[in-house]
Amino acid sequence: MKTIILSKSQIYTGDLILVNAHYPVHSHSIEGFSIVDAKYPDVRMKRNAVNALQCIFDKIGCTDQIVAVSGHRSLAEQVEIYNGSMRDNGRSFTEKYVALPNHSEHHTGLAIDLGLKQEVIDFIRPEFPYDGICNKFRKTAPYYGFVERYQSDKEDITGIAHEPWHFRYVGHPHSEVMDKEHLSFEEYIEYIRNFTYNKEHLRISGNAGKEIEIFFVPCHTERVEITIPEHSIYQVSGNNVDGFIVTILR
Ligand code: DAL
Ligand code: ZN
Repeated sequence: MKTIILSKSQIYTGDLILVNAHYPVHSHSIEGFSIVDAKYPDVRMKRNAVNALQCIFDKIGCTDQIVAVSGHRSLAEQVEIYNGSMRDNGRSFTEKYVALPNHSEHHTGLAIDLGLKQEVIDFIRPEFPYDGICNKFRKTAPYYGFVERYQSDKEDITGIAHEPWHFRYVGHPHSEVMDKEHLSFEEYIEYIRNFTYNKEHLRISGNAGKEIEIFFVPCHTERVEITIPEHSIYQVSGNNVDGFIVTILR
């Protein structure tokens, strides 16, 4: 077995950080970002999210039909979008469709707004219908680590209105579990708490007969120590709340 030491500050980093009205981003670092599509050089995401997105685009052959509208946003950009929307669209609209500065997933570089290519694209609410190429993207996304983040029947949980265009990278296999179980990200973070480190872990089958194990490690001290099998590939992400989600590929 090998020992891994996890420090409290890592709670706020990783692909599974939950950012919403209750949990702000803790870092505005822009290291490790890449352009999503050379045609839209202002739209950037974390490198691993870009790689996954490009795999989806290649798989469904959609590069001329789907536009990358908005990726990473700085704090200043979100302030501008929020204030601009308050001025132009009013409070009710803004609170539904624009996250408060510091509370937007767009700060993480793990979220992207996509739009169906057309003459005029609405920056805050791009069209991304439930048919054609957009739906093909939506259906393929969970196999590559992305989920549709703000679904219509989860508005009370996410605190954001239905946004068919906003996708969040959480990494595979988490995206597939969320999709199959129809869980919002908030619900998934809660669900994983059932599989604590020292209890039974969530076990799912991966590709080529591999078994994937997922568990939650609460962190209430400056650091926690866990042990995992010696020859295993693993990933650790903070949940941005109170601990870590560990994924082991056996
Ligand atoms: N439109 C999403 C909620 C944001 O502003 O982050
Ligand atoms: Zn968005």
